[in-house]
Amino acid sequence: MEINSAEFVISNTDVKKCPAGQLPEYAFIGRSNVGKSSLINMLTGRTKLAMTSSTPGKTMLINHFLINNNWYIVDLPGYGYAKRGHKGQEQIRTVIEDYILEREQMTNLFVLIDSRLEPQKIDLEFMEWLGENGIPFSIVFTKADKLKGGKLMNNINSYLRELRKQWDELPPYFISSSESRLGKKELLEYIESINKTINQKS
Ligand code: GTP
Ligand code: MG
Repeated sequence: MEINSAEFVISNTDVKKCPAGQLPEYAFIGRSNVGKSSLINMLTGRTKLAMTSSTPGKTMLINHFLINNNWYIVDLPGYGYAKRGHKGQEQIRTVIEDYILEREQMTNLFVLIDSRLEPQKIDLEFMEWLGENGIPFSIVFTKADKLKGGKLMNNINSYLRELRKQWDELPPYFISSSESRLGKKELLEYIESINKTINQKS
């Protein structure tokens, strides 16, 4: 799929104020600094569509971007950023949970995982919660350019082993780099294939 147009539509903290209509949307979530905004820029080929920063906690809002006038990409706030303090983290958590549980247009949630790190409890617990609530999700391992080939695959395989302890069937997963654009084609094809099945149903 080619992305011909990508435009920012609205930011807010309230799921009820997200765009009306039935266009499917694909949301990106993960720990602060995992590379959500960078991945959205890489996928859309727009360097400044989503705000990126080396300071964690930059994305505080639910951000909707309309793609090809046909579907949305949603940049969600990162979870687990300690410096926000307990109250701040709870607020963000409510924003995220309300969006995930209430937004019927959300077709798939991409959970981003830093490919350099060992499995983190916060991510595993978050995915468990998604499973309990029947939320369709897939995993995107980010920052693959920061690891040499062997180490990258070692990390990913050990992550998948960890997931198998929790899941009988693994969710789809992708390996990405916003620097080298690794994973762009696969992710866009995946989104396109889901969009097609939705269009056939309607
Ligand atoms: P919050 O909005 O704060 O939750 O962060 P985020 O998940 O949107 O992360 P963001 O895209 O802002 O990236 C965080 C930092 O990681 C930035 O300094 C990016 O340049 C860097 N980064 C993101 N993706 C990649 C990648 O694939 N490769 C490399 N080398 N750096 C990356
Ligand atoms: Mg961000």
